[in-house]
Amino acid sequence: MSESISVQTSTQNKYELHFGYDLSAELESYIRQFGSSKAFLMVDAFVLEHHRTHFERALKKHFSELHVFEVPRGEQAKNIEVYKQALDFVLNEGVERGTPLFAIGGGVTGDLSGFVAATVLRGIPLVHVPSTLLAMVDSSIGGKTGINHTTGKNLIGSFYQPKAVFMDVKYLETLAYKEWVNGLSEVLKYGMIHSPEILDEVKTLLDEDNFTNGKSWLPLIQKSAQIKVDVVSEDVLEAGRRAFLNFGHTFAHVIEREGAYKQYSHGEAVYAGMIAAVHASNSLGASIELSNLLQFKALYKLSLDKISSSPAELVEWMKTDKKVKDEQIRLVLLKEMASPYVYNVSETEFVKLAWHHTLNIFQ
Ligand SMILES: NC(=O)c1ccc[n+]([C@@H]2O[C@H](COP(=O)([O-])OP(=O)(O)OC[C@H]3O[C@@H](n4cnc5c(N)ncnc54)[C@H](O)[C@@H]3O)[C@@H](O)[C@H]2O)c1
Repeated sequence: MSESISVQTSTQNKYELHFGYDLSAELESYIRQFGSSKAFLMVDAFVLEHHRTHFERALKKHFSELHVFEVPRGEQAKNIEVYKQALDFVLNEGVERGTPLFAIGGGVTGDLSGFVAATVLRGIPLVHVPSTLLAMVDSSIGGKTGINHTTGKNLIGSFYQPKAVFMDVKYLETLAYKEWVNGLSEVLKYGMIHSPEILDEVKTLLDEDNFTNGKSWLPLIQKSAQIKVDVVSEDVLEAGRRAFLNFGHTFAHVIEREGAYKQYSHGEAVYAGMIAAVHASNSLGASIELSNLLQFKALYKLSLDKISSSPAELVEWMKTDKKVKDEQIRLVLLKEMASPYVYNVSETEFVKLAWHHTLNIFQ
């Protein structure tokens, strides 16, 4: 049995997130609504190789023509060249306003395909089939699409909502351990900013040796998705409350940059970033136990000892974050667990201290 959550993004726009193990039957019944006999698929290269029969079986029941574009693995696929190749592919094959595009893969595939769907003919129907934990709990929800530019990540893009999202945990059976950990950071983030019981639930998964078991993850994936839905539905264009989802991220972006976007995964950087954000919160009067996060440290195998910049230099880099306004650092901090707020930093001493402590923890 599958479960679903409705996402209302405007008075006219509503779509469903479906959750379950093997959603072939749900997908098959959903696609009957499309008038087109043709569909485009943009699929992560690994997923194409290992899960092709799984998604094709469902899609072939309705679409007589499936045109598959293979998305190269890794962040480098989110660039203008691959975007152009995908546009050429879709336009050369012949696309109409009603021809759907299915994005099957992780956040890279979802962001890139979403931007293709948003821009071809000013928008064709988009269906997300996320295949990583991170994509299920985060990137497939909320309508952010886009690609990177040589000057920075996610600088070209648009808000474009899908018609539906199918969170089929069968895909997770092939997910590498490091990708579980990568997605975990966003789940822990929901625990810190919204629902602390999530931290206990992750701990239970670990204790029961189910950390890489997709079926066991289902309730947590659904809970995490519901939190993201609640936050983004209230703030579709990221003007207010959605900023809370950046908890730990202003620190994380600097860590990713220090590692030239290769050394540390986004998830590792967010994990360390959240620890820094808890330190900063405590400096401003909160008393949050770091053990909430540190109990998961062994999963990360993270060392930051290659970071040679000083805390003062790291603070300077924070001022270049794309979410910064007028060079003023804006941090998402916690008054207490599950009580986030945005703080405009004027005096940076406590931020330097947060860096200092965090670098020490990951020596
Ligand atoms: N749009 C948003 O709101 C949003 C939010 C967070 C992150 N993102 C973006 O998401 C991207 C990161 O997403 P990601 O972590 O899913 O990375 P990813 O898409 O690169 O996938 C990670 C790796 O997992 C592999 N993979 C995918 N599915 C698999 C499966 N079922 N089994 C085995 N391997 C599989 C991929 O080939 C890749 O090597 C970043 O580009 C980030 O900017 C977007």
